Amino acid sequence: MKEVIKIEGGHPLEGTVRISGSKNATVALIPAAILANGPVTIVGVPNISDVSALQQILEVQKVKVIHKAEDHIIIDPSHMENVDLDHVAVTKLRASYYFMGALLGKYKSVRIRMAGGCYLGPRPIDLHLKGFEALGAHVEYDQGCYHIWAEELVGTKIYLDFASVGATINIILAAVRAKGRTTIENAAKEPEIIDVITLLNKMGARIRGAGTNVITIDGVDELWGCFHEIIPDRIEAGTFIIMAAAAGKEMTVENIIPQHLEALLSKLDEMGVDMDVKLDRVTIHGGSKLKGVDVKTQTYPGLATDLQAPLTVLLTQAEGRSRVTETIYPERFKHCYELDKMGATTEVTTPKATIFGPTKLYGVDVTATDLRCGASLVVAGLIAKGVTTIDQIYHIDRGYDNLDGKLQALGAKIWREQIED
Ligand code: EPZ
Repeated sequence: MKEVIKIEGGHPLEGTVRISGSKNATVALIPAAILANGPVTIVGVPNISDVSALQQILEVQKVKVIHKAEDHIIIDPSHMENVDLDHVAVTKLRASYYFMGALLGKYKSVRIRMAGGCYLGPRPIDLHLKGFEALGAHVEYDQGCYHIWAEELVGTKIYLDFASVGATINIILAAVRAKGRTTIENAAKEPEIIDVITLLNKMGARIRGAGTNVITIDGVDELWGCFHEIIPDRIEAGTFIIMAAAAGKEMTVENIIPQHLEALLSKLDEMGVDMDVKLDRVTIHGGSKLKGVDVKTQTYPGLATDLQAPLTVLLTQAEGRSRVTETIYPERFKHCYELDKMGATTEVTTPKATIFGPTKLYGVDVTATDLRCGASLVVAGLIAKGVTTIDQIYHIDRGYDNLDGKLQALGAKIWREQIED
């Protein structure tokens, strides 16, 4: 037996949805917390399986995790041990690689299995490793495991060939307790990185330049516990905004930081979506006639690659031809093949896809090949005629907190079912 999500399309969304804490911030904040010498309290933790996997890793390391409330955890690394991380949980998500930087920073040594996560085409970690080596670490790779160690980590200047989110965070985690000053040039500027730096600075780190492309880290001897509230998830917010534009009557998405969504909101405006943006919420008035546009994913503040798949669904409903260019993960177009099964007309020639709209979508059996593909199929299911069945939904559960529950509260007909394998 396996669990699938089923959606009966054609029920308009109405009401207000509250956005959870950012998944991609959380999965870095949890490994960052182990650098403290006392308890770190984190509020706004989304209820997703990536967090459960990280918690399993913490338990292996004898880090105490206390759930104070549904979205509120205390991570206490006071009695942690630097054990080898060959636990299967490491392979469940990409972000387990943040334990490389955090454990290297704390113990000057880490043994860890290769991280897993969504397959979006090749996802090398050469920039992370080069960063560790520049700080004085040695890297060995043997049979799927990394051993990274240093006698001493010494601050230096590191230029990233690409403004990688993961490499920026991992190098910061390794450098916070290094000797002297580390400067990361061409650093990534995503809001999740600012959130991690905010936590680390509350813990006693000395990091400047968050949100710019030059980050300076002055190493410190000790980091302590603190309290931190996670920023709202801009990708979950963007997904719901797109759902509202596709299937909404009148819908409000609250607990957002509109500035984090500027590229998406201006694209939607160009398409003809009717929206009112306020300080921490956006109200979308559905039913507008949409026109096709060209979109290009870019590093922040450009349009997030994680919103490309959901946005592609909206483009199938827009009049005319739209072109999508993927500059972060050139092969991230698996959702197009699934959408075509539902009636969309897309042409993929990586790193681009052309979408011809508007096309009617029909409920069929489709597969969530990765997290954001899964989200896009939910968007498609909401507007499709008939029932859409989505397989491999563990991808969706990795990154969306109670997606089906939130949609049910908005009036969607969405449910889970156990079916024959
Ligand atoms: C983060 O992945 C996110 N994951 C991804 O979200 C997101 O798509 C991505 O950033 C881009 O915004 C997490 O935060 C856990 P990168 P990350 O390093 O850090 C190349 C989702 O759906 N690169 O910025 O792995 C890489 O191949 C997930 O929530 C190297 O070449 O992304 C890619 O082309 C999926 N060498 C580009 O850089 C390296 O050493 C950007 O990758 C590292 C990256």
